[in-house]
Amino acid sequence: MDKQTDSIQPMKWQDDTLFLLDQRLLPHQKIWLEFSHPDDVAHAITNMVVRGAPAIGITAAYGVVLAARQAWNVAGVNWKQAMTAPLARLAESRPTAVNLHWALHRMTELYMTLSDTESAETILLQQAQAIHQHDIAANHTMGKLGSQLLAKDSVVLTHCNAGALATGGFGTALGVIRQGYSDGKISHVYADETRPWLQGSRLTVWELQQDTIPVTLQAESAAASLMASGELDWVIVGADRITANGDVANKVGTYMLAILAHYHGVKMMVVAPTSTIDWALNDGSEIPIEQRPQQEVTMLQGQKIAPLGTVASNPAFDVTPANLIDAIVTEAGVVLSPSIETMTKLKVKN
Ligand code: MRU
Repeated sequence: MDKQTDSIQPMKWQDDTLFLLDQRLLPHQKIWLEFSHPDDVAHAITNMVVRGAPAIGITAAYGVVLAARQAWNVAGVNWKQAMTAPLARLAESRPTAVNLHWALHRMTELYMTLSDTESAETILLQQAQAIHQHDIAANHTMGKLGSQLLAKDSVVLTHCNAGALATGGFGTALGVIRQGYSDGKISHVYADETRPWLQGSRLTVWELQQDTIPVTLQAESAAASLMASGELDWVIVGADRITANGDVANKVGTYMLAILAHYHGVKMMVVAPTSTIDWALNDGSEIPIEQRPQQEVTMLQGQKIAPLGTVASNPAFDVTPANLIDAIVTEAGVVLSPSIETMTKLKVKN
Protein backbone atom coordinates (compact mmCIF):
# COMPACT_ATOMS: atom_id res chain seq x y z
CA MET A 1 0.00 0.00 0.00
CA ASP A 2 2.78 2.46 0.86
CA LYS A 3 4.16 2.48 -2.67
CA GLN A 4 0.84 3.59 -4.13
CA THR A 5 -0.17 6.00 -1.40
CA ASP A 6 3.22 7.70 -1.37
CA SER A 7 2.98 8.44 -5.08
CA ILE A 8 0.98 11.66 -4.47
CA GLN A 9 3.17 14.55 -3.35
CA PRO A 10 2.39 18.27 -3.49
CA MET A 11 6.00 19.49 -3.79
CA LYS A 12 9.38 18.35 -5.08
CA TRP A 13 12.90 19.79 -5.25
CA GLN A 14 14.53 19.12 -8.59
CA ASP A 15 17.39 20.75 -10.53
CA ASP A 16 17.97 23.34 -7.75
CA THR A 17 14.34 24.43 -8.11
CA LEU A 18 11.15 24.04 -6.10
CA PHE A 19 8.16 22.57 -7.95
CA LEU A 20 4.61 22.81 -6.57
CA LEU A 21 1.66 20.87 -7.92
CA ASP A 22 -0.99 23.54 -8.61
CA GLN A 23 -3.79 22.32 -6.33
CA ARG A 24 -6.21 24.96 -7.66
CA LEU A 25 -6.44 23.00 -10.92
CA LEU A 26 -6.79 19.50 -9.52
CA PRO A 27 -8.21 17.00 -10.24
CA HIS A 28 -8.72 17.80 -13.91
CA GLN A 29 -5.30 19.29 -14.66
CA LYS A 30 -1.99 18.19 -13.16
CA ILE A 31 0.35 21.16 -13.64
CA TRP A 32 3.67 21.60 -11.82
CA LEU A 33 4.74 25.23 -11.29
CA GLU A 34 8.42 26.11 -10.95
CA PHE A 35 9.79 28.45 -8.23
CA SER A 36 13.21 30.02 -7.85
CA HIS A 37 12.29 33.19 -5.90
CA PRO A 38 11.09 33.16 -2.25
CA ASP A 39 8.48 35.90 -2.84
CA ASP A 40 6.84 33.78 -5.53
CA VAL A 41 6.69 30.94 -3.02
CA ALA A 42 4.95 33.26 -0.51
CA HIS A 43 2.41 34.26 -3.20
CA ALA A 44 1.80 30.61 -4.07
CA ILE A 45 1.01 29.84 -0.42
CA THR A 46 -1.37 32.84 -0.11
CA ASN A 47 -3.08 31.95 -3.38
CA MET A 48 -3.65 28.25 -2.55
CA VAL A 49 -1.30 26.71 -5.12
CA VAL A 50 -0.16 24.70 -2.11
CA ARG A 51 -2.32 24.41 1.02
CA GLY A 52 -2.73 22.30 4.13
CA ALA A 53 -0.76 23.14 7.27
CA PRO A 54 2.17 20.68 7.01
CA ALA A 55 2.55 21.25 3.24
CA ILE A 56 2.70 25.01 3.82
CA GLY A 57 5.46 24.51 6.41
CA ILE A 58 7.54 22.26 4.15
CA THR A 59 7.09 24.64 1.21
CA ALA A 60 8.23 27.57 3.34
CA ALA A 61 11.34 25.59 4.38
CA TYR A 62 12.25 25.17 0.70
CA GLY A 63 11.45 28.89 0.27
CA VAL A 64 14.20 29.67 2.81
CA VAL A 65 16.71 27.77 0.64
CA LEU A 66 15.71 29.99 -2.30
CA ALA A 67 15.93 33.07 -0.06
CA ALA A 68 19.52 32.17 0.94
CA ARG A 69 20.55 31.88 -2.70
CA GLN A 70 18.90 35.17 -3.59
CA ALA A 71 20.34 36.91 -0.51
CA TRP A 72 23.88 35.89 -1.48
CA ASN A 73 23.36 37.08 -5.07
CA VAL A 74 22.04 40.45 -3.89
CA ALA A 75 23.98 41.13 -0.70
CA GLY A 76 27.10 38.89 -0.78
CA VAL A 77 28.67 38.64 2.68
CA ASN A 78 25.72 40.54 4.18
CA TRP A 79 23.39 37.74 3.06
CA LYS A 80 21.98 37.06 6.53
CA GLN A 81 20.53 40.59 6.85
CA ALA A 82 19.05 40.19 3.36
CA MET A 83 17.14 37.11 4.58
CA THR A 84 14.92 39.11 6.97
CA ALA A 85 12.46 40.62 4.46
CA PRO A 86 11.76 37.51 2.32
CA LEU A 87 11.35 35.39 5.45
CA ALA A 88 8.89 37.93 6.88
CA ARG A 89 6.90 37.71 3.64
CA LEU A 90 6.87 33.92 3.86
CA ALA A 91 5.73 34.14 7.50
CA GLU A 92 2.82 36.42 6.51
CA SER A 93 1.66 34.26 3.62
CA ARG A 94 -1.08 32.54 5.69
CA PRO A 95 -1.85 33.32 9.33
CA THR A 96 -3.48 30.27 10.91
CA ALA A 97 -1.30 27.23 10.14
CA VAL A 98 1.41 27.28 12.79
CA ASN A 99 3.53 24.72 10.90
CA LEU A 100 4.63 27.65 8.73
CA HIS A 101 6.19 29.44 11.70
CA TRP A 102 7.55 26.19 13.10
CA ALA A 103 9.40 25.45 9.85
CA LEU A 104 10.67 29.03 9.43
CA HIS A 105 11.91 29.01 13.02
CA ARG A 106 13.84 25.78 12.45
CA MET A 107 15.40 27.11 9.25
CA THR A 108 16.25 30.48 10.88
CA GLU A 109 17.91 28.82 13.87
CA LEU A 110 20.09 26.90 11.41
CA TYR A 111 21.09 29.70 9.05
CA MET A 112 22.03 31.95 11.95
CA THR A 113 24.80 29.45 12.79
CA LEU A 114 26.21 29.42 9.23
CA SER A 115 28.82 31.64 7.63
CA ASP A 116 29.73 30.53 4.09
CA THR A 117 26.81 30.76 1.68
CA GLU A 118 27.94 28.16 -0.84
CA SER A 119 27.62 25.50 1.80
CA ALA A 120 24.75 27.43 3.46
CA GLU A 121 22.40 26.67 0.58
CA THR A 122 23.36 22.99 0.68
CA ILE A 123 22.97 22.76 4.45
CA LEU A 124 19.62 24.56 4.39
CA LEU A 125 18.41 22.28 1.60
CA GLN A 126 19.35 19.23 3.68
CA GLN A 127 17.32 20.63 6.56
CA ALA A 128 14.28 21.37 4.33
CA GLN A 129 14.47 17.84 2.93
CA ALA A 130 14.73 16.43 6.46
CA ILE A 131 11.61 18.39 7.50
CA HIS A 132 9.85 16.97 4.42
CA GLN A 133 10.91 13.36 5.11
CA HIS A 134 10.11 13.58 8.84
CA ASP A 135 6.62 14.77 7.98
CA ILE A 136 6.00 11.74 5.78
CA ALA A 137 7.35 9.42 8.50
CA ALA A 138 5.16 11.14 11.12
CA ASN A 139 2.11 10.63 8.92
CA HIS A 140 2.76 6.88 8.67
CA THR A 141 3.16 6.68 12.46
CA MET A 142 -0.08 8.62 13.01
CA GLY A 143 -1.82 6.39 10.48
CA LYS A 144 -1.01 3.32 12.58
CA LEU A 145 -1.90 5.00 15.90
CA GLY A 146 -5.19 6.35 14.58
CA SER A 147 -6.16 3.05 12.97
CA GLN A 148 -5.76 1.32 16.35
CA LEU A 149 -8.58 3.49 17.73
CA LEU A 150 -11.09 2.26 15.16
CA ALA A 151 -13.36 -0.78 15.44
CA LYS A 152 -13.62 -3.15 12.45
CA ASP A 153 -15.61 -1.84 9.44
CA SER A 154 -16.05 1.71 10.75
CA VAL A 155 -17.73 4.33 8.60
CA VAL A 156 -15.99 7.70 8.77
CA LEU A 157 -16.47 11.27 7.59
CA THR A 158 -13.65 13.66 6.73
CA HIS A 159 -13.71 17.38 5.99
CA CYS A 160 -11.50 19.44 3.67
CA ASN A 161 -8.32 17.67 2.54
CA ALA A 162 -5.85 16.43 5.13
CA GLY A 163 -4.26 14.03 2.69
CA ALA A 164 -0.98 13.57 0.86
CA LEU A 165 -1.62 16.88 -0.90
CA ALA A 166 -1.85 18.76 2.42
CA THR A 167 1.38 17.31 3.82
CA GLY A 168 4.74 15.97 2.69
CA GLY A 169 2.88 12.84 1.58
CA PHE A 170 0.44 10.13 2.85
CA GLY A 171 -1.62 12.60 4.91
CA THR A 172 -2.77 13.08 8.49
CA ALA A 173 -6.54 12.37 8.60
CA LEU A 174 -6.27 10.60 5.24
CA GLY A 175 -3.20 8.76 6.55
CA VAL A 176 -5.40 7.25 9.28
CA ILE A 177 -8.08 6.53 6.67
CA ARG A 178 -5.56 4.88 4.32
CA GLN A 179 -4.08 2.78 7.13
CA GLY A 180 -7.52 2.05 8.60
CA TYR A 181 -8.83 0.82 5.26
CA SER A 182 -5.77 -1.35 4.75
CA ASP A 183 -6.23 -2.80 8.29
CA GLY A 184 -9.92 -3.61 7.66
CA LYS A 185 -10.96 -0.98 10.20
CA ILE A 186 -12.72 1.27 7.69
CA SER A 187 -15.37 0.10 5.26
CA HIS A 188 -16.55 3.42 3.86
CA VAL A 189 -15.56 7.10 3.78
CA TYR A 190 -17.79 10.14 3.41
CA ALA A 191 -16.04 13.31 2.19
CA ASP A 192 -17.51 16.79 2.70
CA GLU A 193 -17.15 18.88 -0.46
CA THR A 194 -15.86 21.78 1.71
CA ARG A 195 -16.98 25.16 0.44
CA PRO A 196 -15.65 27.49 -0.83
CA TRP A 197 -12.46 25.89 -2.19
CA LEU A 198 -13.92 22.38 -2.58
CA GLN A 199 -10.84 20.67 -1.18
CA GLY A 200 -13.06 17.70 -0.32
CA SER A 201 -14.54 17.07 -3.76
CA ARG A 202 -11.50 18.09 -5.80
CA LEU A 203 -8.67 16.69 -3.65
CA THR A 204 -9.90 14.19 -1.03
CA VAL A 205 -12.16 12.24 -3.37
CA TRP A 206 -9.39 12.24 -6.00
CA GLU A 207 -6.82 10.90 -3.52
CA LEU A 208 -9.14 8.18 -2.21
CA GLN A 209 -10.20 7.12 -5.70
CA GLN A 210 -6.56 6.57 -6.62
CA ASP A 211 -6.21 4.22 -3.65
CA THR A 212 -9.57 2.56 -4.52
CA ILE A 213 -10.96 3.41 -1.09
CA PRO A 214 -14.78 3.59 -1.28
CA VAL A 215 -15.84 7.21 -0.89
CA THR A 216 -19.12 9.11 -1.10
CA LEU A 217 -19.07 12.87 -1.64
CA GLN A 218 -21.62 15.03 0.16
CA ALA A 219 -22.31 18.71 0.80
CA GLU A 220 -21.24 19.45 4.38
CA SER A 221 -24.83 20.41 5.18
CA ALA A 222 -25.72 16.70 4.76
CA ALA A 223 -23.60 15.76 7.81
CA ALA A 224 -26.39 16.10 10.39
CA SER A 225 -28.76 13.69 8.67
CA LEU A 226 -25.90 11.26 7.97
CA MET A 227 -25.12 11.21 11.69
CA ALA A 228 -28.79 10.91 12.62
CA SER A 229 -29.01 7.80 10.42
CA GLY A 230 -26.65 6.01 12.81
CA GLU A 231 -24.33 4.97 9.96
CA LEU A 232 -21.33 7.06 11.00
CA ASP A 233 -18.76 6.01 13.62
CA TRP A 234 -16.05 8.67 13.45
CA VAL A 235 -15.33 12.14 12.10
CA ILE A 236 -11.60 12.26 11.25
CA VAL A 237 -9.99 15.62 10.44
CA GLY A 238 -6.62 17.38 10.39
CA ALA A 239 -5.62 20.61 12.15
CA ASP A 240 -3.97 23.93 11.39
CA ARG A 241 -3.15 24.83 14.97
CA ILE A 242 -3.69 23.08 18.31
CA THR A 243 -3.34 25.05 21.53
CA ALA A 244 -1.88 23.88 24.86
CA ASN A 245 -5.33 22.89 26.16
CA GLY A 246 -6.22 20.82 23.07
CA ASP A 247 -8.47 23.32 21.26
CA VAL A 248 -8.16 22.82 17.49
CA ALA A 249 -8.30 25.28 14.59
CA ASN A 250 -9.14 23.50 11.35
CA LYS A 251 -11.04 24.18 8.11
CA VAL A 252 -14.23 26.15 8.71
CA GLY A 253 -17.06 23.71 9.30
CA THR A 254 -15.07 21.42 11.58
CA TYR A 255 -16.62 22.99 14.71
CA MET A 256 -20.09 22.40 13.28
CA LEU A 257 -19.20 18.72 12.68
CA ALA A 258 -17.85 18.39 16.23
CA ILE A 259 -21.08 19.72 17.76
CA LEU A 260 -23.15 17.42 15.53
CA ALA A 261 -20.93 14.46 16.40
CA HIS A 262 -21.25 15.14 20.12
CA TYR A 263 -25.05 15.33 19.84
CA HIS A 264 -25.30 12.09 17.84
CA GLY A 265 -22.73 10.05 19.79
CA VAL A 266 -20.27 9.97 16.86
CA LYS A 267 -16.58 10.13 17.83
CA MET A 268 -14.27 12.95 16.79
CA MET A 269 -10.58 12.36 15.93
CA VAL A 270 -8.04 15.08 15.10
CA VAL A 271 -4.82 13.93 13.44
CA ALA A 272 -1.85 16.30 13.30
CA PRO A 273 1.94 16.23 13.76
CA THR A 274 3.43 17.87 16.87
CA SER A 275 4.60 20.72 14.60
CA THR A 276 0.91 21.78 14.56
CA ILE A 277 0.84 22.31 18.34
CA ASP A 278 1.36 25.90 19.47
CA TRP A 279 2.42 25.57 23.10
CA ALA A 280 2.60 29.37 23.41
CA LEU A 281 -1.19 29.69 23.16
CA ASN A 282 -3.35 28.66 26.11
CA ASP A 283 -6.59 28.17 24.22
CA GLY A 284 -8.28 28.53 20.85
CA SER A 285 -9.51 32.09 21.42
CA GLU A 286 -5.89 33.22 20.84
CA ILE A 287 -5.57 31.61 17.39
CA PRO A 288 -5.54 34.10 14.48
CA ILE A 289 -8.28 33.08 12.05
CA GLU A 290 -7.63 33.90 8.40
CA GLN A 291 -10.32 35.92 6.62
CA ARG A 292 -10.07 35.29 2.88
CA PRO A 293 -11.43 37.37 -0.03
CA GLN A 294 -15.23 37.65 -0.36
CA GLN A 295 -15.03 36.63 -4.04
CA GLU A 296 -14.15 33.10 -2.98
CA VAL A 297 -17.74 32.84 -1.69
CA THR A 298 -19.57 35.00 -4.24
CA MET A 299 -17.89 33.22 -7.17
CA LEU A 300 -17.30 29.57 -7.96
CA GLN A 301 -14.46 28.64 -10.31
CA GLY A 302 -14.62 31.98 -12.12
CA GLN A 303 -18.45 32.12 -12.31
CA LYS A 304 -20.53 34.65 -10.32
CA ILE A 305 -22.99 32.78 -8.07
CA ALA A 306 -24.33 35.72 -6.00
CA PRO A 307 -25.90 39.06 -6.99
CA LEU A 308 -23.55 41.99 -7.61
CA GLY A 309 -22.80 43.83 -4.38
CA THR A 310 -23.25 40.77 -2.15
CA VAL A 311 -21.31 41.04 1.11
CA ALA A 312 -19.76 37.68 2.05
CA SER A 313 -18.01 36.42 5.14
CA ASN A 314 -15.14 34.04 4.44
CA PRO A 315 -13.31 32.81 7.54
CA ALA A 316 -11.03 29.97 6.40
CA PHE A 317 -10.97 28.19 9.76
CA ASP A 318 -12.90 27.75 12.99
CA VAL A 319 -11.97 26.54 16.45
CA THR A 320 -13.27 23.31 17.96
CA PRO A 321 -13.05 23.27 21.76
CA ALA A 322 -11.10 20.37 23.27
CA ASN A 323 -14.15 19.04 25.12
CA LEU A 324 -15.77 18.09 21.79
CA ILE A 325 -12.75 16.01 20.71
CA ASP A 326 -12.32 12.34 21.64
CA ALA A 327 -8.75 11.86 20.43
CA ILE A 328 -5.84 13.92 19.18
CA VAL A 329 -3.42 11.66 17.29
CA THR A 330 0.18 12.83 16.84
CA GLU A 331 3.38 11.00 15.91
CA ALA A 332 4.42 11.33 19.57
CA GLY A 333 1.32 9.55 20.84
CA VAL A 334 -2.45 9.76 21.24
CA VAL A 335 -4.22 12.06 23.68
CA LEU A 336 -7.72 10.92 24.64
CA SER A 337 -10.12 13.56 26.01
CA PRO A 338 -7.66 16.43 25.41
CA SER A 339 -7.22 19.04 28.14
CA ILE A 340 -4.38 21.17 29.49
CA GLU A 341 -3.38 18.19 31.71
CA THR A 342 -3.65 15.35 29.18
CA MET A 343 -1.86 17.35 26.44
CA THR A 344 1.24 17.67 28.64
CA LYS A 345 2.43 14.17 27.73
CA LEU A 346 3.06 15.41 24.16
CA LYS A 347 5.05 18.40 25.43
CA VAL A 348 7.46 16.13 27.25
CA LYS A 349 8.06 14.08 24.09
CA ASN A 350 8.21 17.04 21.69
O1 MRU B 1 -7.29 26.30 3.55
P1 MRU B 1 -6.55 25.00 3.54
O2 MRU B 1 -6.91 24.13 2.39
O3 MRU B 1 -5.07 25.20 3.69
O4 MRU B 1 -7.05 24.26 4.85
C1 MRU B 1 -6.51 23.01 5.15
C2 MRU B 1 -7.09 22.39 6.37
O5 MRU B 1 -7.90 22.97 7.05
C3 MRU B 1 -6.56 21.04 6.75
O6 MRU B 1 -7.54 20.29 7.39
C4 MRU B 1 -5.38 21.24 7.71
O7 MRU B 1 -4.46 22.15 7.20
C5 MRU B 1 -4.70 19.97 8.00
S1 MRU B 1 -3.83 19.36 6.60
C6 MRU B 1 -3.03 17.94 7.03
